[in-house]
Amino acid sequence: MRITYYGHSAVMVEVGGKRVLIDPFFDGNPVATTRAVDVHADYIVITHGHGDHIADAESIAKRNDATIIATHELAEYYDWHGHKTHGMGIGGGYNFEFGHVRFTPAFHSSSLELPETKSFIYMGMPAGVIISGKGKSLYHAGDTGLFSDMKLIGELYHPDIAMLPIGDNYTMGPREALIAAQWTGAKTVIPIHYNTFPVIKQDGDLFVAELKKKGINGIALRPGESYLVE
Ligand code: NI
Ligand code: MN
Repeated sequence: MRITYYGHSAVMVEVGGKRVLIDPFFDGNPVATTRAVDVHADYIVITHGHGDHIADAESIAKRNDATIIATHELAEYYDWHGHKTHGMGIGGGYNFEFGHVRFTPAFHSSSLELPETKSFIYMGMPAGVIISGKGKSLYHAGDTGLFSDMKLIGELYHPDIAMLPIGDNYTMGPREALIAAQWTGAKTVIPIHYNTFPVIKQDGDLFVAELKKKGINGIALRPGESYLVE
């Protein structure tokens, strides 16, 4: 399993011979070094309907004929827009050709914002996701506050890698993420959802140093960097 971080929560997981993209946010992403037009994906996993997680989903899905994997309402929305989709529910898992996907709870919200009519489209529950394949598993927490069932995620799914938001304001901050890292039991933790905007500015290297004090391997990937899970 190989993981590439593009900044914010956008991540490519190469597993089982397929390219699985999580939360595509490229062209409007101030820290991304990759353009949406250069991204190749077979599947796109979306954790929730906010703009900073879905921005380039439709263009990448269309150009690559990729299947969008998301919770029910999001999947239906993309199905109605002519995309290939696979809808799931929180807590549910499914075996795809590349490996296994399970959606986990996340404490956040999920809606599509329509500024022109000052309204929101309800997009179901926000989620985290566990992607497993070739004996390795990744927990991408999506946007979430800290919740104690992360212990259960650790007990049940033993993630090798956890990608946890540390930006604070919209999600957990570094203090909570440090607890989340311990609860998930992940061997390696990679911080996400920080430094994209001034309001979520954090020190990724300091977070990694705090992880090390707890005996956890941490890596603050820069946008465009990859990590091979061995
Ligand atoms: Ni969000
Ligand atoms: Mn977000």
